[in-house]
Amino acid sequence: MLITGAARGIGAAVAARCAAEGARVALADLDRHQVQATALALRGEGRSAAAFPVDVADAAQVVGMVGAVRACFGRIDCLVNNAGVVEDAQLKNMQSDQWDRVIAVNLSGAYHCARSVIDTMLAQRAGSIVNIASVVGLYGNFGQSNYAAAKAGLIGMTRSWAKELGPKGIRANAICPGLVHSSTLTAMPEPMLEDILRRVPLGRLGTPGEVASLAAFLASDEASYMSGAVIEVAGGLTL
Ligand SMILES: NC(=O)c1ccc[n+]([C@@H]2O[C@H](COP(=O)([O-])OP(=O)(O)OC[C@H]3O[C@@H](n4cnc5c(N)ncnc54)[C@H](O)[C@@H]3O)[C@@H](O)[C@H]2O)c1
Repeated sequence: MLITGAARGIGAAVAARCAAEGARVALADLDRHQVQATALALRGEGRSAAAFPVDVADAAQVVGMVGAVRACFGRIDCLVNNAGVVEDAQLKNMQSDQWDRVIAVNLSGAYHCARSVIDTMLAQRAGSIVNIASVVGLYGNFGQSNYAAAKAGLIGMTRSWAKELGPKGIRANAICPGLVHSSTLTAMPEPMLEDILRRVPLGRLGTPGEVASLAAFLASDEASYMSGAVIEVAGGLTL
């Protein structure tokens, strides 16, 4: 099982959850030191985990990383496209490099990873792709048109892959988290966070583990009749 952006946050929680259920997990991340530390910690708990430093925005690096994962694990049953960044700005202030980076990591990164694992999954005639999108990809958000475009694109790719790959035994689903406790949120101004929390019926942030439990389910055979689903884990934020 290959998880991108697995050094910390939601990706690390997905890796921990799936490893605890017996998966052999490949943790891929831009942060070379942290991803190695996270994989080491999992191995310390007796799990099967290995770290693979990569920038998912770089197609050549992704090809090399997936080759290394295949060499290490033999097969790739599941890909979790989780690596993501934000570079917030209102449209009038948005710079091209902010636009390009967010699309390159969140959208093109998922494409590069899926493109690189797909031959393996096709040969296996089995596989599960889980894309970590966002409620922002469904409804938009102030100051996040680049991120909204990337996440909406990820949802569109998920549904396209479900149609294209379903007949080959490969499923694709998307998770749309709302506000989840992580390093991404530290950049959000306190008043904005409080305003959003007032609109969450469950009245609190989600935890990475609460996203990971759905990712683990979608990755597993328990979800064998689910493909093309786009599921919110948002405490009711969008109601
Ligand atoms: N936290 C939230 O509230 C929230 C809400 C909705 C969606 N999401 C999505 O969930 C995913 C995980 O978010 P998180 O909150 O855990 O974030 P995080 O910042 O804690 O973790 C993201 C990880 O991705 C890695 N990463 C960044 N760019 C990369 C690249 N180019 N190549 C490889 N790895 C890269 C980072 O090093 C980091 O380890 C993201 O796709 C994010 O958009 C998060």
